[in-house]
Amino acid sequence: MPTGPIPIHWSDGSSTLVQPGCPWLEAARQAGFMIPTGCLGGSCGACEIDVNGRTVRACIATVPSSRRGSLTVDLAADPFW
Ligand code: FES
Repeated sequence: MPTGPIPIHWSDGSSTLVQPGCPWLEAARQAGFMIPTGCLGGSCGACEIDVNGRTVRACIATVPSSRRGSLTVDLAADPFW
């Protein structure tokens, strides 16, 4: 299934179009959305975001294609990592 850019709704209220496969940190940088980072290697969890309610580690994940047509991103709800 060919997919084009996907609308991403960031929790700061902005929206951007992002190509599936783009690293999450790059997509966030382009949107001006700050994702905290730590190890940048997938082990610390500082960069966790919730994508349509599913937690992913932004430093090692890429924007997936979406059957729903858009993705909603929140910072993961655990501020005490
Ligand atoms: S920055 Fe440590 S898991 Fe992503």
